[in-house]
Amino acid sequence: MIALADRMKLVSESITLAVTAKAAALRKAGVDVVGFGAGEPDFDTPAFIKDAAKTALDNGQTKYTPTPCFPELKTAIAEKFKRENGLPYEAVNITTGAGGKHCLYMAFLAVINPGDEVLIPTPYWVSYPEQVKLAGGVSKFIAGDEKNGFRITPAQLEAAITPKSKVLILNSPSNPGGHAYTPAELKALADVVVKHPGVMVFSDEIYEKLVYDGLKFVSFATLDPRLVEQTLTFNCHSKSFAMTGWRIGYIGGPKIFIDAINKLQSQINSHITSFVQFPAAAALSDPRGAESIEAMRQQFEKRGKHMWERLSALPNVTCVRPQGAFYCFPNVSAYFGKSAGGTKITDAVSFSAALLEQNHVAVVPGNDSGFETHVRLSFATSMENIDKGIDRIAEFLKKLA
Ligand SMILES: Cc1ncc(COP(=O)(O)O)c(C=O)c1O
Repeated sequence: MIALADRMKLVSESITLAVTAKAAALRKAGVDVVGFGAGEPDFDTPAFIKDAAKTALDNGQTKYTPTPCFPELKTAIAEKFKRENGLPYEAVNITTGAGGKHCLYMAFLAVINPGDEVLIPTPYWVSYPEQVKLAGGVSKFIAGDEKNGFRITPAQLEAAITPKSKVLILNSPSNPGGHAYTPAELKALADVVVKHPGVMVFSDEIYEKLVYDGLKFVSFATLDPRLVEQTLTFNCHSKSFAMTGWRIGYIGGPKIFIDAINKLQSQINSHITSFVQFPAAAALSDPRGAESIEAMRQQFEKRGKHMWERLSALPNVTCVRPQGAFYCFPNVSAYFGKSAGGTKITDAVSFSAALLEQNHVAVVPGNDSGFETHVRLSFATSMENIDKGIDRIAEFLKKLA
């Protein structure tokens, strides 16, 4: 038998996959499952963006393009960074990738040497440690405390940095925590980072538009002039414009890193799809883009508040109030050690499996995000579903009491 590459042993099987597969099987069998698993907006891509894609196709934009992307898109991204984020990137500081995930992976490949440490605050987005492993790096986790809204402190950051530290990942607003740093809190982290010029920050800002309670979003690299050379800023169209399937991501940063990423891309995937590049530019430049984001944000704000209020009212469940993205991340560990319908609950995975099996609600266990005590619920779903699902969770918890 021909063996797979050793590298494949590095990549973990997703623990959440089993729950997702089970939810799909139940649905297929006709069971009415309430799904809180979605990592994507339940809204459609705005019509003007779809129209721009149709026009691009009709205009014959179906051939190879330059590696970073067409100059029109590069310019639109550089202008967006300047106008909305105050970031001084020019066209040479920009490249694109097939979604935020691909952008991050290329950046790890371009920056990490074997054994380099990547600092990752917990809870984290599931793909960071997997991508770090594939790039030969070593993840070092900084524990976000629920009592501090999962935000790490400057002292924690300072203590985690060693001579081997190469990258710090910051993701505010965050998946799965739903937390976000205030500008002052981020500035305090920035003050630590600039003391360590060998540490690069990957600022994953893909949820920048989805902030609540009047929270002001700031781009990390604007917090100190030195950070422009020390930061790669990641963004994408997936969440802001409800374009997850289009696979459009982009990076702003120092030219040396952008050139390296383009070199990789030229040998791996050449460029992102030709005819999505024009609608991608239109989404950023046309005022209807900002309007559609704001309409969606207002819906998410109402739903997030409602879901959080309902979760917080459940007995022995604690939940950090979501200030960004579209996730609540409640702590259900008070129920560990108890049984429901003959199943013993030991961690977030067994909790999620029993909840799905017995009361037909799909949530994502936090194990893949470094938290075995929490589950993730997405509020990218209707108010009606939120109420129905949380009613069912309340019934499930009664059995465990
Ligand atoms: C924090 C974070 N970063 C990056 C990504 C990747 O986004 P994309 O779908 O554009 O690849 C996601 C997607 O869920 C995410 O939550």
